[in-house]
Formats: sequence, C-alpha cells, structure tokens
Amino acid sequence: MPIDAAVVTAAVRSCADVIAEHRHELTKLDSAIGDADHGTNLHRGFQAALVRLPDPGDALPADVLKAVSMALVSKVGGASGPLYGTAFLRAAGAVDGAEHLDASQVADALAAALAGVQQRGKAELGDKTIVDALSPAVDAARASVDAGGGAREALRAAADAAAEGAEATIPLVARKGRASYLGERSAGHKDPGATSTTLLIQTLAEQEGCEA
Ligand SMILES: Nc1ncnc2c1ncn2[C@@H]1O[C@H](COP(=O)(O)OP(=O)(O)O)[C@@H](O)[C@H]1O
Ligand SMILES: [Mg+2]
Repeated sequence: MPIDAAVVTAAVRSCADVIAEHRHELTKLDSAIGDADHGTNLHRGFQAALVRLPDPGDALPADVLKAVSMALVSKVGGASGPLYGTAFLRAAGAVDGAEHLDASQVADALAAALAGVQQRGKAELGDKTIVDALSPAVDAARASVDAGGGAREALRAAADAAAEGAEATIPLVARKGRASYLGERSAGHKDPGATSTTLLIQTLAEQEGCEA
C-alpha cells in the first residue's frame, strides 16, 4: 500500500488516539518542570485536527499535514502548539504535490519538521526540548533510508532513536521553554515535549500502510 492521503489521515487519527491515551502521563511530566498542561494542550490540538481533516479522496498527503498544522497552531496555547504546528507545516512543504510518499520523502518530511522547530524555537540538541527526540530521529531515518531501508524501517529506526533521545533528557538542565525557569531543578525529569515527539513517531512506525 503506498503512503497516500488515506494512510496519512489514518496516521493522524492514530496519533490523536495515542495522545488521548497518554495525555495524563504527558501532563504529569509537565507538572514536574512546567505548568502541567502539555498533555491537555496536545490532546486539544489533535482533537481539533480530526475535525479539520480533508476528505482523503481528494487530498494529497501535504493537505492532511497542513490541516493538522492549522489546528495545532490555532488550538494549542502553549509553546508546543506553534512548534508542532510549524513541524507539520514544514513536513507538508517537504512533500508538496506528492500523491504518495516513499521512504526518502518520509525522511525528508521529518528533517523539514526538525528544521522548522529549530528555526522557530532556537533550541539546540541538549537543551531538553522536542529537538532532543526529533534530531536523533531524523538522523536515524536518513541513515536507514541511505542503507536501503523502506519507510517502515526508517520510522522504526527514528522511533527508537527518539525514545533514546527523550530518555537522555532526564539528567539535562533545560535551556529553553518554561522548564528553563527552574534552572538546575529541571534536572532529573524527562522532558514532556521530547516524550510526546517520541510517542508520535512510534505511532507512525506502527501505522498500517507505512510499508513504502
Ligand atoms: N524553544 C523550544 N524548542 C523546542 N521545544 C520546546 C521549546 N520550548 C519548549 N519546548 C517544548 O515544549 C514542551 C512544553 O510544551 P507545553 O507544556 O505544551 O507548552 P508550555 O511550556 O507553554 O506550557 C517542553 O517540554 C519542550 O519539549
Ligand atoms: Mg506546559
């Protein structure tokens, strides 16, 4: 099955389900080093995205990603809304016009998402943010594709790298976002945004139809 608008739509629905399922856990992480709203924020954003999804019958993958972006930007008040919104918008731009996505385009979309997050949020690796999960994920996806892997393998490699990156945020002192106000006290807690990024990429890796 090619990764067409229908598969991307199904993936967005799966992401919304996973965020709903994990929202309390994400909010709990945010209660330790933030303001206890990350799960609530993302849940609101993904539920809004579901309502805005175009009819996959006459949409391209990029249209689906753009709809998600708009919903996240308009419905998520926290820092993560504009950051994830930019990620989805840039991912859409990377696959503009394509009817279905191959493994290389999936890796390109992830790379574009990371570039958008970094342009918008100015975080570097090690700042205890979304970047700490997304950046290793991008590298792993690209390496997998370069080694001849398909989209499923690339996404699995990305998901594993993201999980490792999120885990590695625990000892870090936050240098960006609300958690940075805590200084040294932000160490010893896993970053909520790196955790949600990992959940989203894990969901994509398990999505039916991502075989290209
Ligand atoms: N500049 C940034 N770049 C990348 N990610 C960031 C940045 N600032 C914050 N984040 C991510 O956003 C997450 C917090 O999101 P959320 O709680 O929804 O927003 P807020 O901090 O405004 O309450 C953090 O855990 C972190 O991963
Ligand atoms: Mg918060």
